[in-house]
Amino acid sequence: MNALTQRYTVMPGGALKGRLRVPGDKSISHRAIMFGALAEGETEVEGFLDGADCLATLAAFRALGVQIETLGAGHVRVHGVGLHGLTPASDPIDLGNSGTAMRLMAGVLAGQAFASTLVGDASLSRRPMRRVTAPLAQMGARIDATPEGTPPLRIHGAETLRGIDYAMPMASAQVKSALLLAGLYAQGKTCVTEPAPTRDHTERMLAGFGCRVARDGARVCLNGGGRLSGGKVVVPADISSAAFFLVGASIAPGSELLLEHVGINPTRTGVIEILRRMGADIDVFEPREMSGEPVADLRVRYAPLQGIDIPEDLVPLAIDEFPALFIAAACAQGTTRLTGAAELRVKESDRIQAMADGLSAIGVAAEVQSDGIVIQGADAFGGGVIHSHGDHRIAMAFAMAGLRAEKQIEIVDCANVDTSFPGFVDKASAVGLGIGSSL
Ligand code: S3P
Repeated sequence: MNALTQRYTVMPGGALKGRLRVPGDKSISHRAIMFGALAEGETEVEGFLDGADCLATLAAFRALGVQIETLGAGHVRVHGVGLHGLTPASDPIDLGNSGTAMRLMAGVLAGQAFASTLVGDASLSRRPMRRVTAPLAQMGARIDATPEGTPPLRIHGAETLRGIDYAMPMASAQVKSALLLAGLYAQGKTCVTEPAPTRDHTERMLAGFGCRVARDGARVCLNGGGRLSGGKVVVPADISSAAFFLVGASIAPGSELLLEHVGINPTRTGVIEILRRMGADIDVFEPREMSGEPVADLRVRYAPLQGIDIPEDLVPLAIDEFPALFIAAACAQGTTRLTGAAELRVKESDRIQAMADGLSAIGVAAEVQSDGIVIQGADAFGGGVIHSHGDHRIAMAFAMAGLRAEKQIEIVDCANVDTSFPGFVDKASAVGLGIGSSL
């Protein structure tokens, strides 16, 4: 498939109705494969995200000698090899589009007795890796990157790692997780302090696998030299994928949608909080817990939205949801201002610039700032051609904009939607979005 030529055509108007279960959580699916591989015994994963990013992690661990059975849609069984049972991959490990896979695997592979090379696609090859290679070097790892600090990563292995006490300069769950994973192999204690709360799936899942991660305020610590034991992981639906539908139903008059079995870990629910502050009508039903993660059904109904100043402390809790939230802002009364979100510039694309360009293309005023954006809500906007820059979340965000557009929206370069949301077009069509896909 030629990635650049896959395009979506979205008809203007419509409403979202019915019920929907979006695919499994991407962050949790990656971790289920990784921890299952490093554990002793079998780990059965249900609700696994069969998207390209998590399949890259799955293939990577197979290349490292781990037997992983695919038992059906979203159902895999990992035959753990224990912390010291991985074997060298014969070729460079290709992690495709996935920053999570590369950063977390850098932590795992730094602790091995053998060398590994990690490569990625054009987008991943532009993304900053010093944020993990620098603290891993402090732990004793030797990792080579390009002079710009980007992939490929050559991880020498065979070093004895030592625990460090690291204060992260940015709020990154990927960095925290990479260091905790390396910490499993380190002598002594590894501690990471975060400048603001970030998603804590690693800490929760490590606990589920029998490894205690101690938290004291913003600092998490674990001791090296332990072991993990496998078990069952049930992956909730991804709130980051649900976010497109939370926004779509909020902006389209007549909408009412039930999103089933969505992960509502408090380190991920910034999108609900921000949308509610804008006036959205979102209800949380039947909160429950699955595999150490809170889950619920979310009902969202159309409501008129108002622009807001997004509080900076909510930014890491909604970091992947801003493309969708910018579409909500475009449909709100008044101005929405985002600050403190420079991290958006180093995601799968520069999401501030890519969204601003797309918003201008459909006639919505957006002013780019170094660490955020100012969006003027519009009573009405037209259609146009949007470039997603190969970024799944840009493509899906503009697909939702079609619900309020007055003309057709065309989105190009959409193949990477498959990284996080395989079946997006069918699922979105089934609840009322007028979307088609063509090559
Ligand atoms: C992720 C953490 C976030 C997020 C990414 C997944 C994870 O990145 O943007 O999609 O699974 O740990 P950062 O931690 O770098 O902000």
